[in-house]
Amino acid sequence: MKISVIGCGYVGCVTGVCFADLGHEVTLVDVDPAKLRAISAGRSPIYEPGLEDLIRKNRDRISATTDLRAAIRSTDITFVAVGTPSQEDGAIDLRYVLGACEEIGQVLKDKDTFHTVIIKSTVFPGTTKEMACPVLEKASGKTAGRDFGIGSNPEFLREGSAVRDCLSPDRIVIGADDPRTAGILSDLYAPVGSVVLVTPVTTAEMIKYTSNAVLAAKISLANEIGNLCKRLGVDSREVFTAVGMDGRVSPAFFRTGIGFGGSCFPKDVRALVAGARACGEDLKILRAVLEVNEEQPKKLLSLLRRHIPDLQGKIIGVLGLAFKPDTDDIRESRAVPVVADLLAAGAQVVAYDPAAMENFRRVFPQVGYVSGPDEVLGADAVLILTEWREFEGLDYRGRIVIDGRRLEKARAEAMIYEGVCW
Ligand code: NAD
Ligand code: UGA
Repeated sequence: MKISVIGCGYVGCVTGVCFADLGHEVTLVDVDPAKLRAISAGRSPIYEPGLEDLIRKNRDRISATTDLRAAIRSTDITFVAVGTPSQEDGAIDLRYVLGACEEIGQVLKDKDTFHTVIIKSTVFPGTTKEMACPVLEKASGKTAGRDFGIGSNPEFLREGSAVRDCLSPDRIVIGADDPRTAGILSDLYAPVGSVVLVTPVTTAEMIKYTSNAVLAAKISLANEIGNLCKRLGVDSREVFTAVGMDGRVSPAFFRTGIGFGGSCFPKDVRALVAGARACGEDLKILRAVLEVNEEQPKKLLSLLRRHIPDLQGKIIGVLGLAFKPDTDDIRESRAVPVVADLLAAGAQVVAYDPAAMENFRRVFPQVGYVSGPDEVLGADAVLILTEWREFEGLDYRGRIVIDGRRLEKARAEAMIYEGVCW
């Protein structure tokens, strides 16, 4: 099949390249020529383990362009995978999704063959049917379901393991209100060999938000219990290992610490809360999930102040800036509020991250970035904000370590050790 993917970020690029690996001809479209140049040169435009190898392997089947119109004309199905950031009040910002739909619709106007448009971006339930579809119909002058297909195919990949998640997902959710679109997507995904669930379009969108809400809620619940465990001298990991053994509760996503970051959990939970409010529902539990998450980085800083009450002029070392290991993504990383507070308190920040320093430097040019983790250890105190594997191998003896990510070696070795939730 000939596939176009609009948006060549963490989701669009990985999805497109994986489709190429399944044997399809894929056109990747973005407004950012640098990303496209990288792909055309056989390089990954993002830091994602395994992606570059897959781009090289499937080079003959992948093309990259800024020409959205040509891409729509020359393909049979289009996945929209552009960003859906938060607005100031937490509600979803649909400008990129609807902008892409408008352009796609204008091309469909003059296209004779049946074309299918799939919204892969995470959007509030009802968006595809009530907003994207009318935009496509108006711009094309055609009727969805009859003249072109429209559906939802939410993505569940995680950064850092995106290729694996994409090629062998736990499940594939296809939201389609017409049998033709459902059939096209089911055939496309059949070779993946995972369970495929076909649902109404709005249900598929709700499944995506609910999945992220459940995972975020698990983390905030673990952190609340972890905070109490710390006061009671109980190891929360032992608690959650036992709790996770209950067949009704999976052990995953109970890792305690400074909370969840990334481009999805915070924004999606905020969007769900804001969207629900607009429908007259107050999602109290999810509001608390966000509140707990905002408090966790502050706990790390108050642990630091227990040992260094006045941060003015002190050198504070930071290990890890990415929102999690194996990515260069710093969107909503917990390192952002921590570093901002340290700088506001007059501390001198020295930081190391194996992949995210360039991205962090754009936001915080005043931080001292060093070329190896050992250089951070000489600071007055060391904060662990991302659990990169290489931090396990450091020598923490004689150091003051405040740990937001539960590093066993640091706990065992440090002269003074404080762990959030531990
Ligand atoms: P991203 O910011 O990494 O990539 C989006 C890309 O879209 C950018 O490269 C941008 O230049 C491009 N773009 C914007 N408007 C465009 C247009 N009109 N034409 C062509 N390109 C355009 O975003 P992402 O992290 O890949 O997320 C995309 C969507 O997928 C979001 O809705 C997100 O919530 C969802 N999602 C993300 C992940 C993840 O792990 N990052 C996982 C599942 C779902
Ligand atoms: C998450 C989901 O796991 C994906 O299924 C989903 O597709 C994606 O969001 C999305 O919708 O964008 P991702 O953000 O890449 O994926 O990363 P996760 O591994 O889920 O971690 C998110 C954050 O939670 C990280 O900051 C991580 O440190 C934190 N986390 C995770 C914890 O604090 N504790 C845990 O037990 C697990």
